[in-house]
Amino acid sequence: MSETTLQGLFDFFWADYSVITPDAPKIHALLNGRGETIVNDHIAFRTFNIDPIGVEALGSAFTAFGYSTSGEYHFEKKKLRALSYAHPDPMLPHIFISELLTGEFSAELQDIVHGLVAQVPAGRTGGDIFTDLPTWAPVPFETYKRILEESEYAGWLSAFGIRVNHFTVLINALKTFGSLQEFNDWLKVEGFVLNESGGAIKGTPGELLEQSSIMARRIPWKFAGGEMHDIPTCYHEFARRYADPATGELYRGFIAKSADRIFESTDSDKAV
Ligand code: NI
Repeated sequence: MSETTLQGLFDFFWADYSVITPDAPKIHALLNGRGETIVNDHIAFRTFNIDPIGVEALGSAFTAFGYSTSGEYHFEKKKLRALSYAHPDPMLPHIFISELLTGEFSAELQDIVHGLVAQVPAGRTGGDIFTDLPTWAPVPFETYKRILEESEYAGWLSAFGIRVNHFTVLINALKTFGSLQEFNDWLKVEGFVLNESGGAIKGTPGELLEQSSIMARRIPWKFAGGEMHDIPTCYHEFARRYADPATGELYRGFIAKSADRIFESTDSDKAV
């Protein structure tokens, strides 16, 4: 299956994500009920730094539609590298793609990961990699647990393959909330669980970006042999951007130390 328009690709992502992240359509419905129109700030993906699914290869699905790289980020402790992409049309979401630096992990983890990536058919590029789900056959549950011991990020990726990790509501576009704090308070009243790692709000107005997220929920997921286990899936994120004094325009980048904490929204010991 191949999506030939950018909107078609975005629709595909939302359809897939909203099924495994039931909190996201629930939050959107609640916001719509307040008369809000939702603008998506960014869509985030996770991958391994191995051909043919490295960051640049996945990014080509978006550069083909006029996106260009807007930043590069490094996460030393989690052993990740990421690129962000922006489009000249400010109404289109930013794209954030991170990749695991696979070579920095144990030989056992590297072998497992190479076995997964080898299942991606040769010649697959760009959008085809996203839309050909599942990316690889279900892993044995024991393998998933083994990978989690080394990297929560790699464990998530081994189970879910290449698919959206999160969509993000742009708080600036909401009319009935004065701040991200006010929005977070409302989420709590509505019964959602926030990622409190490093405080619920990551980033400051001075850094030009404030972010928060809910914790991923556990849903039943299929492993090798048809075994079902409840594991953390995806989360929903919220971002408020500030004007960059240098340009007068909304800041388009990301803050590495904030993203570092946001990654923990899928941690298996904290998921709800
Ligand atoms: Ni994000």
